[in-house]
Amino acid sequence: MSMTRDEAWNALALHPDPTLEELFAADPDRVDKLTGRIELGEVGIRFDWSKTHLTDELLAEFEALAEASDFGEMRDRLFGGEVVNPTENRAAEHSALRGVGQDASVEEAEALRERMKLLVGAIHEGALGEVKHLIHVGIGGSALGPALAVDALGRDDPKVDVHVVSNIDGVALEEAFAACDPATTLIAVASKTFTTIETMTNAHSALKWLADNGVSDPTGRVIALTAYPEKAVEWGVDETRILPFAESVGGRYSLWSSIGFPIAIAIGWDDFQAMLDGAAAMDRHFRDTDGRANLPLRAAFSDLFYLRLRGCQTRAVFAYDERLRLLPDYLQQLEMESNGKRVTVHGEPSGPTAPITWGGVGTDAQHAVFQLLHQGTHMVPIDFIASIEPGDMLDSAHHHILLMNCFAQGAALMAGKQSDDPHRNYPGNRPSATILCDDLDATTFGALIAFHEHRVFAAAVMLDINPFDQFGVELGKEIARKIEKGGERFDASTEALLKVSGLG
Ligand code: F6P
Repeated sequence: MSMTRDEAWNALALHPDPTLEELFAADPDRVDKLTGRIELGEVGIRFDWSKTHLTDELLAEFEALAEASDFGEMRDRLFGGEVVNPTENRAAEHSALRGVGQDASVEEAEALRERMKLLVGAIHEGALGEVKHLIHVGIGGSALGPALAVDALGRDDPKVDVHVVSNIDGVALEEAFAACDPATTLIAVASKTFTTIETMTNAHSALKWLADNGVSDPTGRVIALTAYPEKAVEWGVDETRILPFAESVGGRYSLWSSIGFPIAIAIGWDDFQAMLDGAAAMDRHFRDTDGRANLPLRAAFSDLFYLRLRGCQTRAVFAYDERLRLLPDYLQQLEMESNGKRVTVHGEPSGPTAPITWGGVGTDAQHAVFQLLHQGTHMVPIDFIASIEPGDMLDSAHHHILLMNCFAQGAALMAGKQSDDPHRNYPGNRPSATILCDDLDATTFGALIAFHEHRVFAAAVMLDINPFDQFGVELGKEIARKIEKGGERFDASTEALLKVSGLG
């Protein structure tokens, strides 16, 4: 008889706790065993977990946990377009946008993608006049993916200069206005629901800016990206400039849909398609590979090991690549909005779920936060992400120093350095994984993001939580609406704040 989930967790908890140094000494094949690679045509990505505390035995126990959690069945449900978000009675079909999923959903996604491709092509060819700038307004999943992808892939000679604006603080929109010429600017309004107050307010202000600056038909300059096209029509956008996507695509999983319009506009259709293809390669790997050889599943094993068995409350991601400077922001939403839950799918208390995701770029972070990582009292599992090929054309010294530092940090965190002087002592035994891309092109980027999506899903399955809802964000919105409406009383502190700010 197979194990229950509780039995699997109990077995995991009984494991000894050797140091990383002991693990390397005990197994000369450790690097090979704990390293995986995905091939993506001419490039690939190497994943090295040898500097984590994972062992053959732990991996076997985690495989048992995955089995006890019906991981295979849940994965089939995900790719089969079945309900995997029971609290909202929805499927989660982001992989169908990349061509991997239930046939009907893949076909529907293809048709919508074709529509977007035509519009992108038409804009590039001048059908909407000269277009030099795009101001993309959206928030959360409707902004973080586009911002990251445009920043990562759209640096060299972008076809259109894209500005992603999410904050309702007008300072953000003003910054975009200052960088754009209204006569050659399009506005993308990106909102799955087409109701989000920040986005709709920013959209109104962007149209006003166009009108105030002599654009005769401001709504004619709007492209709407939404799962509710009827709302965009009501708002005044012509149907030919509305790019819909399926309701079964969650906000934080939506950069592959029409929400990715600014990405395609900036980097061109071929590279946008390459990004989808890279993600699809990771989808197929995740769908078709069992046990520890499955890269996102293995990453989830490591995440759960540190979360549940070593009590780590945070995990950090350091990209040794300037092009990925927005990755920690993106992953914060992906991981914390998905798995930041306190009850299981059955509504029972769950125990610890998502760690707090944080991070930065190397080498900047070394000169700011790494002190705590080396000598502080927290154990923080780290992912280092880098590319062997440089992203710059300068003297190769830049990239050498970047990569050397990346590898040196992993080595130093693991080895530590003993000193009789407690202030100069480094305890070591601090875990890290290294994700090393051959090159950071659009394909690799797509695979990297899909890897994280599936990692989150795999962890959620083993934690028995629903990664696809986000009710936790609603209460604050509700109270903001009540404040706006007036007539309600709040706690004394909030009342005082409202009063001194002239809002109460
Ligand atoms: O408030 C959270 C959230 O619903 C996110 O999940 C989502 O990505 C974001 O708001 C934006 O929502 P929309 O795309 O509907 O404007």
